[in-house]
Amino acid sequence: MKTNLLETTTKWVLDTYIHNSLHMVNSLEWLDRIAPGSREAVRIATLTHDMERAFPGPDMPIWNGDEDYDYYVAHSNRSARIVGDWLATQDCDPAFIQDVQELIKVHEFGGWPEADLVQAADSLSFLDVNIDLFLGYAKSGKFRTEQIKAKFVYSHDRIRIPWVQELAKPMMHSAVERLETPLSAV
Ligand SMILES: [Fe+2]
Ligand SMILES: [Fe+2]
Repeated sequence: MKTNLLETTTKWVLDTYIHNSLHMVNSLEWLDRIAPGSREAVRIATLTHDMERAFPGPDMPIWNGDEDYDYYVAHSNRSARIVGDWLATQDCDPAFIQDVQELIKVHEFGGWPEADLVQAADSLSFLDVNIDLFLGYAKSGKFRTEQIKAKFVYSHDRIRIPWVQELAKPMMHSAVERLETPLSAV
């Protein structure tokens, strides 16, 4: 494996996922806060978990605003495929690629300790840097306020690590408050 894989992958994310690379890089920052010293596969999976959204195509799943299990599975699997293709171009070991892909496939759900960390980092980052984007969806009418509220609450509720869920709770409450009282938004 290349020793600068994290660096080259970060550049790939920044150069490719133009409209929301912040959430990708910020997710890794959260992982490094809640689980410093995580394996490289876990860090790479966290940094790239949503990358399919940078590659529009006919097989790209479209979110309908509801907490839709089938959408999340399609989104996760498509990201795993695209990230696997990227890692293959970086001469990564097949076992390492599969390791990263298995984590990305469950990044919306968790399932085992390292998968729970990826999902928790994604959730914290969503509540940290994606709230304005989703408040905008409610304001523009793209999605209903109730759908956006459900997304905020779900991003907290799905976290499987109790102390991390506690960490996310005030972030979720703040997001819901801003949604329900737009005049107080800052
Ligand atoms: Fe995702
Ligand atoms: Fe995400």
